[in-house]
Amino acid sequence: MSENLIYCYSGSGNCLDMAKNIAKELGDTEIVMMRSFPVKTDATEAKRVGFIFPCYGGGLPGNVESYVKAIHIGINSYKFAIVQYAGYKGCGLHKIDKIVDLDYWNGMSNHCSCIWLMPHYLTVPPLPRKLSQKRSEAMAKKFAADIKATKRSEKKPPKGTVFALESKLLSSQNTKRIKKFTVNENCVSCGQCAKICPQGNITYSDARPAFGTNCIGCLSCVQYCPSKAINIGSITKHRARYHNANITAEELTEKTFHIG
Ligand SMILES: Cc1cc2nc3c(=O)[nH]c(=O)nc-3n(C[C@H](O)[C@H](O)[C@H](O)COP(=O)(O)O)c2cc1C
Repeated sequence: MSENLIYCYSGSGNCLDMAKNIAKELGDTEIVMMRSFPVKTDATEAKRVGFIFPCYGGGLPGNVESYVKAIHIGINSYKFAIVQYAGYKGCGLHKIDKIVDLDYWNGMSNHCSCIWLMPHYLTVPPLPRKLSQKRSEAMAKKFAADIKATKRSEKKPPKGTVFALESKLLSSQNTKRIKKFTVNENCVSCGQCAKICPQGNITYSDARPAFGTNCIGCLSCVQYCPSKAINIGSITKHRARYHNANITAEELTEKTFHIG
């Protein structure tokens, strides 16, 4: 068992990049992905257990809340969580805290992959991509230093009552929008969207991707499509795509990583 376990969800790579950078600082860390049910839920022997995830629609992405409930953590483990967001932290930290009673939490704004809630490339403060990445790497060092020093957050994470409402509304909005996936003539049938989908929701029919009804809205298929061929209705047609420059589509499909 590794000394540190980090549970991570990532749709466009920012959180996986952050998890890897924190792991490099901590040493001997296993990163377990939560895009689908985590392959490891026994964390009882880890000295430190962390959760790194994005804010989606004011709350937690995908099925993260139910996955976290399935994880067993030792009573003496140090527990931390980091949220990445475009504009606001939302209520995800509060939800995780209710389940695991966090010792330390923090968050930072990073480049936005959100294509239906907010304008693209929103970061607080507004920064170009490269500077935003540099800032994220510096923040990872700061978070890791806090974690190594077993720093304890003075306050509980914000409850975010408004965001809790937003996250409820988003799931119904998502269901409506997700029905509108289309594939245009740029598609080269490379199969990457089917491979990257954590839900196995994309299949191939006549060498074209076909979308099922099991989407959790991570948008990895849209952001990582090499031909920019996937759209959601007309919303995405004139929007740029974003994914973290350090994280490849192949990496996002991994279930675990060992670092250090
Ligand atoms: C479906 C979706 C919903 C999002 N909702 C919010 C939101 O409510 N508030 C916010 O500040 N950022 C929101 N974002 C932006 C992400 O939290 C931010 O881009 C984050 O860095 C993504 O991390 P990732 O690259 O690891 O997926 C959303 C992104 C997506 C894809």
